[in-house]
Amino acid sequence: MKKRIAIFISGRGSNMEVIVKNAKNGILTNYCEVGVVLSNKKDAKGLEIAKNLGVDTLYIESAGKSRSSFEAEVVEVLKPYHIDYIVLAGFMRILSKTLLREYKNRIINIHPADTNEFQGLHAYEWAFEEKKEFTKITVHYVDEGVDTGVIIAQQEVDLRGASTLEEVEQRGLRVEHEFYSEVLKSIFA
Ligand code: GRF
Repeated sequence: MKKRIAIFISGRGSNMEVIVKNAKNGILTNYCEVGVVLSNKKDAKGLEIAKNLGVDTLYIESAGKSRSSFEAEVVEVLKPYHIDYIVLAGFMRILSKTLLREYKNRIINIHPADTNEFQGLHAYEWAFEEKKEFTKITVHYVDEGVDTGVIIAQQEVDLRGASTLEEVEQRGLRVEHEFYSEVLKSIFA
């Protein structure tokens, strides 16, 4: 049975775009379908991208709400979509029990560094400033911490010779885009 997934975004949505395309016609086609893309930011660029790809979208503002009331709303709006897994892709909110309990071990995130080494925002800046020769993209289950959940898989990125932050980001994102779908496939298979 194909899994039904919701992808959560807050911005650009480049990982979301690749996953949607792979689910429609690519390496995820036999494994999952994207029921809905949800953003907590009204102006997230990814919302337009998802709409143009023919995917249902939801916008639930998170600003000014407690974690539990925001997430209670999210749980409610997701119900009609019968979602098996939530896939975070640039979703800038820490989750709490309200959502984690509802989707126990079924919320996945991608982090652009080794989560054992660096957690939180600006991981590519960190790798660049620290002059890292390699970084590690991490796909992990989500818990209540910031990038502390159980690691599912990691993929090394060669940063040698990358002389600008843009290049570090480009190399990393190229790996993220391919790797996230591969890992999702292995989870859903
Ligand atoms: C990616 O680097 C992802 O690893 C991190 O946030 C960024 C989101 O980029 N969690 P995009 O919105 O998928 O383009």
